[in-house]
Amino acid sequence: MISTDLLARRERHFGPNAPLFYDEPLHMVRGDGCWMWDADGTRYLDCYNNVPQVGHCHPHVVDALCRQAQRLNIHTRYLNEVVLEYAERLTGLFAPPKLDRAMFVCTGTEANELALRIARHATGKSGVIVSDFSYHGNSGGLAVLTTGLPRPEPLADFCRPVTIPDPFQWEGSQQDMVDTHLTMVDEAIASLDQAGFGVAAVMFDTIFSTEGLLDVPSAYVQGVAERVRAAGGMFIADEVQPGFGRMGDAMWGFERTGIVPELVTMGKSMGNGHPLAAVVTSSALADAFTGDALYFNTFGGNPVSAAVGNAVLDVIEQEALMQHAAELGQYLQDRLREVAERFDCAGDVRGRGLFAGVELIGPGKRPDAAMARAVINDMRNRHVLVSKIGPADNVLKIRPPLCIDRKEIDLLAETLSKSLKALTR
Ligand SMILES: Cc1ncc(COP(=O)(O)O)c(C=O)c1O
Repeated sequence: MISTDLLARRERHFGPNAPLFYDEPLHMVRGDGCWMWDADGTRYLDCYNNVPQVGHCHPHVVDALCRQAQRLNIHTRYLNEVVLEYAERLTGLFAPPKLDRAMFVCTGTEANELALRIARHATGKSGVIVSDFSYHGNSGGLAVLTTGLPRPEPLADFCRPVTIPDPFQWEGSQQDMVDTHLTMVDEAIASLDQAGFGVAAVMFDTIFSTEGLLDVPSAYVQGVAERVRAAGGMFIADEVQPGFGRMGDAMWGFERTGIVPELVTMGKSMGNGHPLAAVVTSSALADAFTGDALYFNTFGGNPVSAAVGNAVLDVIEQEALMQHAAELGQYLQDRLREVAERFDCAGDVRGRGLFAGVELIGPGKRPDAAMARAVINDMRNRHVLVSKIGPADNVLKIRPPLCIDRKEIDLLAETLSKSLKALTR
């Protein structure tokens, strides 16, 4: 039972609008691997959290954090080997040699802000194209580009949202879908040019998670990149959600699209829960920007964060978690498809690696947000945690820590099946 006292205290200090997961909120006190325990000692399988990428409280990461915190923590204006080692390892994760500079920050928001500043500086333009249901951060500069969350600010006049192709809902050929959506990009570019902004960048989450984990054809992403570049702009790949091996077949989401972005942003999983984020770009772009702007970040790239980042990479390598994400991701898709075949309301199972979506629908593929809400709450009551996403709020979002095993995936699939059965009786 959640303490009403705790809820009241939270409301007193955070106010009534601070979001909480689930109709019956959870009070978590401990984590280990894919599991979390609440204050009553009940164990929950965490199939939602993509931040503890290598598992909650991984001992190697915790140990690295503690050891560096005991030794020294400072900013990057002193020479320090830990952060240099991390920068070398991080840029080494990019196959194309062009992405050779790392700039450290503390959150995905800051990374996207910095990437936009660099793109604007390099292009001399200010316009930005985003998807029409997206989220890239909570700063003033990004709030005015936010189309996927409520915001009091009006959308910026230099922003043009475009609709992302949704193959599940599209009635027609794939070619037609891609062409139709690329025409919208042409229109957005023309409109930005006409308004005098020009296009500095397109910013896409390369797994299109907020959009409902859409299975977007590579031809679309390539077409967008070509058009934006022809107009003098850049491609910013927001890897905050797909990055660090979750896709299984690639370290970064953009790799599966066949494009190489000018700027890549990352955060969340990078520090396994510790606030660590970065922009990776070319030395040409980074140096041109830092030549004109004295860019500095007090906490970004401090040795404790860098030690954590190194430890996360150690675990990804030593436990072969990317390969594990590929194998277990296939198993996850198979198990979810078996469940979906038995329930009409489970219209589509999609995703990549250990990032899966299940689209819940009514007759005529009508999005069923009420069912999605009921399912995540019912599963929570059965001690398995997932969430929901998408413009119609009807896609189950499943992103466990990468260390999940087959038995745990079986438990997830069986629990989803039980919930769907109970709710469709
Ligand atoms: C795709 C994407 N980009 C950026 C962000 C912002 O990251 P942060 O909350 O670390 O500022 C988020 C956060 O949810 C995100 O999902």
